[in-house]
Amino acid sequence: MRLTGGRLQPLGCVLALSLMALVLWEIPGAWALDNGLAMTPTMGWLHWERFMCNTDCTEEPDSCISENLFMQMADLMDSDGWKEVGYEYLCIDDCWMAPQRDSKGRLQADPKRFPSGIRHLSNYVHSKGLKLGIYADVGKKTCAGYPGSLGHYDIDAETFADWGVDLLKFDGCHCDTVEQLADGYKHMSLSLNKTGRSIVYSCEWPLYMWPFKKPNYTEIRQYCNHWRNFGDIYDSWQSVKSILDWTSSNQRTLVSAAGPGGWNDPDMLVIGNFGLSWDQQITQMALWAIMAAPLFMSNDLRHISLQAKTLLQNKDVIAINQDPLGKQGYLLRKEDNIEVWERPLSKLAWAVAVVNLQEIGGPRSYTISLASLGQGVACNPACHITELLPVKTKLGFYEWTSFVKTRINPTGTVLLQLKISQTTF
Ligand code: GLA
Repeated sequence: MRLTGGRLQPLGCVLALSLMALVLWEIPGAWALDNGLAMTPTMGWLHWERFMCNTDCTEEPDSCISENLFMQMADLMDSDGWKEVGYEYLCIDDCWMAPQRDSKGRLQADPKRFPSGIRHLSNYVHSKGLKLGIYADVGKKTCAGYPGSLGHYDIDAETFADWGVDLLKFDGCHCDTVEQLADGYKHMSLSLNKTGRSIVYSCEWPLYMWPFKKPNYTEIRQYCNHWRNFGDIYDSWQSVKSILDWTSSNQRTLVSAAGPGGWNDPDMLVIGNFGLSWDQQITQMALWAIMAAPLFMSNDLRHISLQAKTLLQNKDVIAINQDPLGKQGYLLRKEDNIEVWERPLSKLAWAVAVVNLQEIGGPRSYTISLASLGQGVACNPACHITELLPVKTKLGFYEWTSFVKTRINPTGTVLLQLKISQTTF
C-alpha cells in the first residue's frame, strides 16, 4: 500500500509558510508493511509499565503475570466501555514464557501462571470481541532473560499463528550486531506474513539501532506496523517530557515515516496510575493524539479513577488520534516555555495542542494568531474552534486574521480542534 499525497489545497491567500512545516509536509510518504493492518494507530492494553515482570503469584496473585490477569482485563475491556471506544488489543509483554522451549522447539507459556495455555487465552479474549497480543525478542533472550527467537523465527511465527495471536511485540535485546538485529526484524516480518494470519507487527528496531547508526525509516516502515524509537516510559512527568522532547527534536525524521499502516510508537499511556498529575495526564492524552501514537494503556482497569477513565475514553480525542488522514503532528513553535503542536486532520480540520511547560506559578495565558497555524490554511478563511481538553467547550467562529486565547495550567495542555468554515461575517 502506498500513502497518498493528501496535500491540502490552500483556501485563500496563504501566509509565508513556516520553514519547519514546509519541510515536514513535502517529504513523500513511504511504502508501508503490506499486511493491511494498523491503518490507524493500534489501540489496546499492554501489561509492561504497570505489572512489569511480576512472576510471584503466591505473594501477589492479583498482579502477577498470569492468565487470570489477562482474563480479568479482557472482561473489563468488554464490560467497561473500553472496547466500544476502540481499545481492542489486549497484549502480553515479557515474562509470560516458561524458561525452556518444549521438546519440539516451540515456545511455551509458564505452566503455573498460564495453566490453560495461550490458545485457551486467545479463545477467551476473542470470545469477548477483543484481540490478543504477545511478546517475543529478536535476539538470544528476551530483555528479562526468557528464551529469545534468534534462529527460531519461522517456528515462533507459526506457533503464534496456531495459538490465534493477533499482534506481536518484538523486542530487540540480546543481539550481537546491528546486522543481526535488522535481519532478525525483517525475517520475523516475513515469517509472520507466511503464516497467513493477520498479525500486527510491533517493533523496537529503531530504538536499538539509534546508538549505532541512524535508522532507515523507509525500510523499517516496509517491515513493521509500528516501531519504538526511544527508551521505556515510566510513570512520571519527567519520562513523558523526555519522550516529547526527543520526538520534537527528531521530528524531521519521524513525522514523514508515519502514516496508515506504520506508526512511530512513543510507548504506553500511563494515565490512571500514580505518577502523573491530572494536568500531566491530559498532556499525555492530547500529545499522543497529536503524535498519531498507538494507544496502549498500561494501567489496572480493576482500579482506575472515573476521571482517568473518562479521559482515556474521550471520543473526541480518540478521533483525533485515529484520524483517517494518518498524518503525524509536530511541534510548530516553542516560546517562553509554551509549546504549540499541530496536526493536520481529514476534511481540512486541524488539531492544535498548547502545552505549558513552566513548572512554577499558576495558569498562563497564551494567544495564538490563527494565520500562523496549519501553514496558514488551518483557519482560512474562517473556522469553528472547539476546546476538547481539559473541558469540551465550543469557543465559536473565528476569522483567519483573528486570535484565539488559551489559558493553560502548569504542565497541562489545551487541545483545540479547528474546522474550516467557508462562511464569513
Ligand atoms: C524492553 C522494552 C519494554 C518491555 C521490556 C520487557 O525494555 O522496551 O517495553 O517490553 O523490555 O522486558
